[in-house]
Amino acid sequence: MIMVTLDKEQIHRIIYDPGDTAYLTHNFHPYSAKFIPQLPGYLIRSLSSQDETILDPFCGSGTTLVEAKLLGRRSIGVDIHPLGAFMSRVKSTKIANDRLSATQPLMKRIKRRVESHVKHHGESGFAYSIPDFKNRDHWFQPHVLQELSIIKSSILDEDLSRELREFLLLGFSSIIVYVSNQESETRYSSYKKRIPPLHTYQTYRKKISDMVRRMREFNQVASDCEVVCYNADVRELNFLEDNSVDAIVTSPPYPNTYDYYLYHKQRMNWLDMEWEFLKEVEIGSRLKHSSQGMGIDSYMQDMQEGFEHFRRVLRPDRNLAIIIGDSVIQDELYKGDNMVANLSESVGFKILDHVDYDLGLASRSFNRAFRSTSKREHILILQNLK
Ligand SMILES: C[S@@+](CC[C@H](N)C(=O)[O-])C[C@H]1O[C@@H](n2cnc3c(N)ncnc32)[C@H](O)[C@@H]1O
Repeated sequence: MIMVTLDKEQIHRIIYDPGDTAYLTHNFHPYSAKFIPQLPGYLIRSLSSQDETILDPFCGSGTTLVEAKLLGRRSIGVDIHPLGAFMSRVKSTKIANDRLSATQPLMKRIKRRVESHVKHHGESGFAYSIPDFKNRDHWFQPHVLQELSIIKSSILDEDLSRELREFLLLGFSSIIVYVSNQESETRYSSYKKRIPPLHTYQTYRKKISDMVRRMREFNQVASDCEVVCYNADVRELNFLEDNSVDAIVTSPPYPNTYDYYLYHKQRMNWLDMEWEFLKEVEIGSRLKHSSQGMGIDSYMQDMQEGFEHFRRVLRPDRNLAIIIGDSVIQDELYKGDNMVANLSESVGFKILDHVDYDLGLASRSFNRAFRSTSKREHILILQNLK
């Protein structure tokens, strides 16, 4: 049976004391403001039945899609961030165990190439290419650059299935900020870290071995339900059919909180992904609201365009679960529940239930910006009144 009221005690338990939040493929790659996976898990179970279709139109790192696959629901993910859409696909795609075994000989080949490069002062005997992008040498120390280049060229040089190549490239992407001069996942300033020779390769080897173990476990417990990921703009969802979705579970960008394009810029440089366009199309970025001085109206306009599609693609009377935080723009506090109430009223959703909690205490809020504030985060369940 579909339950549209929220069990507040259970939600508070999930938020404040969720236990392991990095199980299975959830741990593959860092991403800011990921869901605590138990939360979309709870919402998917409450709002849908087996084999129904779940949409997450701001899927980010794909947490909702992984949970949908674990719970036997089909799912569709959309994100404007090419890396987000990419990691969503890899995290929710099974790879047969015998295919995963091919990673072992590959790791040995990479080790030989990196070691002989270190021993022979730059000569590895393996033809690899070093990518060229703006400020490359500011962000990467020379030996890190060489080791990353050997790893990437080795992956591309192999005759692999698309799934396995993407899996290996996602592991590669996950270590890039750590071995670069970028301070942290959410701080885009540079300092020279102490990264000894071979450390980049060793970090990659450990990462892949962990990912292989997790993928084997995922293979055992995940359903075979289809997952489709689109790298697209939430305001342009015409490619999704009317009434094609049974529930929406999502968390939009909170206004003036993150710059997703910025934190992952170096990764996208290595993965040959475009990122310049994200400055224009990323909704709610700090760039737009802090640097360019845009007010809340532009955010609400963008969200309204998304909401109109949500109403169109969601079946009548079915539910949209949205998780949104309070935000401050130019010293003014905007409450997440009020934003959703305005959007619901103008587009045609009815609010059925609402739970909120202190954002600074929630365990996913590793962003220092939230820790000392009294901002709250809200979960709202809406019904499609069409
Ligand atoms: C709060 S995050 C979602 C995180 C996700 N729930 C997870 O578990 O990883 C919001 C996402 O909205 C995406 N986004 C921003 N502007 C967008 C747009 N115009 N269209 C689609 N996605 C957008 C960002 O790239 C980001 O991944």
